[in-house]
Amino acid sequence: MILRSKKFNNCQNGSTFATMSFLEEIARRRTFGIISHPDAGKTTLTEKLLLFGGAIQEAGAVKSNKIKKSATSDFMEIERQRGISVATSVLAFHYKDKKINILDTPGHKDFAEDTFRTLTAVDSVIVVIDVAKGVEEQTKKLVEVCRMRNIPIIVFINKLDREGKDAFDLLDEVEQKLGFTVTPLSFPIGMGYDFQGIYNLWGKRLRLFNEANKTRISDAIDFDNINDPSLSDHIGDTAANLLREEIELVTEVYPSFDREAYLAGQQQPVFFGSALNNFGVQELLDAFIEIAPQPLPKHSAERLVDPKEDAFSGFVFKIHANMDPKHRDRLAFIKIVSGTFTRNTPYLHVRQNKKLKFSSPNAFFADRKEVVAVSYPGDIVGLHDTGNFKIGDTLTAGETLHFSGVPSFSPEHFRYINNADPMKAKQLAKGIDQLMDEGVAQLFTLDLNGRKVIGTVGALQFEVIQYRLEHEYGAKCTYENLNVFKACWVEAQESGDADFKNFTQTKAKFLAKDKEGQLVFLADSAFSLQMTKDKYPQIAFHASSEF
Ligand code: G4P
Repeated sequence: MILRSKKFNNCQNGSTFATMSFLEEIARRRTFGIISHPDAGKTTLTEKLLLFGGAIQEAGAVKSNKIKKSATSDFMEIERQRGISVATSVLAFHYKDKKINILDTPGHKDFAEDTFRTLTAVDSVIVVIDVAKGVEEQTKKLVEVCRMRNIPIIVFINKLDREGKDAFDLLDEVEQKLGFTVTPLSFPIGMGYDFQGIYNLWGKRLRLFNEANKTRISDAIDFDNINDPSLSDHIGDTAANLLREEIELVTEVYPSFDREAYLAGQQQPVFFGSALNNFGVQELLDAFIEIAPQPLPKHSAERLVDPKEDAFSGFVFKIHANMDPKHRDRLAFIKIVSGTFTRNTPYLHVRQNKKLKFSSPNAFFADRKEVVAVSYPGDIVGLHDTGNFKIGDTLTAGETLHFSGVPSFSPEHFRYINNADPMKAKQLAKGIDQLMDEGVAQLFTLDLNGRKVIGTVGALQFEVIQYRLEHEYGAKCTYENLNVFKACWVEAQESGDADFKNFTQTKAKFLAKDKEGQLVFLADSAFSLQMTKDKYPQIAFHASSEF
């Protein structure tokens, strides 16, 4: 590995960081995602982080890319929302000496797979939890994915201005339901009607909440020692005594912050606040830039790739189509893993084994996108794509690498897809192929009769696919229901050859190939899946395509 000290001109954002070494550029990047159950406050928190970062001037500038529940059957609305979500796919801004890249994750459960894939490109995560609702379903699912990869996680408990659960009860709930080991780095003083502010254990400061004037946050008051009697002058005797008791309990019950444990995904710091009221957000951001990791090494099938390596490498984690409805253009989002990505330089598209150059790679900022000459590890660049890329593709300076960690999970809904216009079979095949490359849904081909089955995470996608096939490819399709409970990727163990043969013969009508040609078992019920697993202990049934 070569560690460079060569100087680069930083061309991103006409930055004030005129020249900086490659290593300094890496060290100042923080690439993360915010995840939450819908309505916990992810969009609001994102916006407030941008406000503090000076990236936007007023609240409301970031449009929500939420797909509201009322829009479930309105695919035009979905398309409109997808359009908006391009703009918010990556929100980069500078804060203090750091360059922050927030990767947007759709909250809607029908787009959970998009979120899972985006999580392969983040170096850390902030989980937003609603103080009244506690840990919700979608949060649990997303956190499970983060935990599979030991992603460092910070928890932000939001909406403290509302009545909610007791802070200690919530911390318990977070530990139990998410399997976390928490360490509170801030603690609320009261809640809801009695909410007075927070004590920042990280910076040993007090910040008081001024509900009458939400835009004016009190200056932080340094308070090294909360036993100092003057605490009562700020929050009154009763609250001061309660806070002292609570902080004592916090320090007794919870481990102190251990950065190594946080970075290893073994300890999760917790902050409290109210994103809507700008409250507790700055504490979160200030601690975040100090503790959150810079771009991390990433596993490829061949070896571990370090960001500090000289040679460029990166992978596609998201593809966005229909940037311009008049042209069938797509934007492939690449996370840079190592080296520098330079405009107009030929790079190896590993899967296709061909060199490609990009004349206008885009970088994304909260309020604009711009063409960049050089990008660094941790950055996301958007490349105009005419159909070369699919999710998970690797680009390198020349080495053959395959980055792991962009798995497919079992879809929730399955339907046969039929051609409704025999004259347009080619267009249909091409359309399905490209939409699958984008990761809109998964395609399975049944072993027995070659019929094609589309699997999606949410029912919405069937309408999206039908609409896009017609409008973008001139093809028509119909669907037919198919009863599948779960898709499992099947792997024969070496010792079980005879078993495997027996399995493939007996279960032939439930077997299919995914788009990569991997064998998949489409179980029709939880019961039959369990029976099959019991009957064939020599066969491994995997919940995702990467095992
Ligand atoms: P999401 O992206 O996680 O889905 O949530 P979002 O930020 O859109 O927030 C969901 C709702 O919760 C919004 O209200 C938002 O204003 C509110 N909210 C966010 N943070 C706080 C907070 O700290 N305190 C309180 N009291 N409310 C908060 P909405 O009525 O659904 O939408 P809107 O009309 O306000 O946009």
